[in-house]
Amino acid sequence: MKEHGEDRYGAIAQRLSVWYGEHGRDLPWRHTRDPYRIWVSEIILQQTRVAQAMGYYERFTERFPDAKRLAEASEDEVLKLWQGLGYYSRARHLHAAAALLCDRFGGHLPADYAAVRSMPGVGDYTAAAICSIAFGMPYAVVDGNVFRVLSRLFDCDEPIDTTAGRRFFAELAAALLPVTDPGRHNQAIMDFGALQCLPGRPDCPECPLNDLCLAFASGKVSDRPVRTMHTKIASRWFNYLQVVCDGNTWIHRRQKNDIWHGLYEFPMVETSDACDWLRLAGESRVEALFGGVVPQPVKVTEMPPHQLSHRVIRARFFRFELPEAPSGFERFLCVPVAELGNYAIPRLIERYLENS
Ligand code: ADE
Repeated sequence: MKEHGEDRYGAIAQRLSVWYGEHGRDLPWRHTRDPYRIWVSEIILQQTRVAQAMGYYERFTERFPDAKRLAEASEDEVLKLWQGLGYYSRARHLHAAAALLCDRFGGHLPADYAAVRSMPGVGDYTAAAICSIAFGMPYAVVDGNVFRVLSRLFDCDEPIDTTAGRRFFAELAAALLPVTDPGRHNQAIMDFGALQCLPGRPDCPECPLNDLCLAFASGKVSDRPVRTMHTKIASRWFNYLQVVCDGNTWIHRRQKNDIWHGLYEFPMVETSDACDWLRLAGESRVEALFGGVVPQPVKVTEMPPHQLSHRVIRARFFRFELPEAPSGFERFLCVPVAELGNYAIPRLIERYLENS
């Protein structure tokens, strides 16, 4: 690729660098060279917007300033600090990887792409970000912003949701990567995508790279990038049974191999579609929980659809106020209602509690 446009590649990288010097964001993890902190920031940024990431990053690195402190903490505490950020496997992976770093690398991230890439929770994109930013290694980052910027600069109709398309853009990004300070270049192109080369209505007439942008020249900016597949997002129906008895309520910890693993929730019965109480009360799982005599809820709250990456959670909360504990609730954890805030719970349940 490079042999046909060395000057153009150099000019783009140069122009991005100038733009970044003037407009790049002043972010807390850009004031450190500590690979541990850069790793934490990149894990938080995987699924989170920069504005939300900052507070979490500050609290996380203050409580866990290095891999040793993180490895020594309980998983519950790590999840609690992560509460509200979503994609909780990131927190569990960070915790597991911290233990691994202490076991094998004296608590420090190794300056070795293969070792970084093999850590739990680190994919190609995060490994490239960590290695280039923390160690100055020549790995190009390719995220959603980079796909958009490259597909426009090169007016490329290669789809970004196929393996071949992603490989194409990865090669293009690698060809564009300058030898000096690749970490700075990676952050420049990500910021450029986040601030200037926006998905909807970018301000192209004011863009300092517009004379280098082939999609701008051909009037195709809003057609780039191209996607082929349209994945349908499936729904799940969660029916929560919130029993309150003498100021106490019951929760349990979610198990492996499903969303929200390790977080706490009220006892829940999942159904394959929307269920009113009449139908739910006839379910054998519900009868078993209440020991045969199924009470009436004092309140039913239907939550707005809760969007996750591959799922929509449709939740209903059925609240019961009972004089004594239902017999089937013995296997759950009984906690004072006032102490629910001490447990790591999904954002959906937090929203319910805020409004109930
Ligand atoms: N998104 C993920 N990592 C980033 C970084 N280091 N800078 C800007 N945006 C990012």
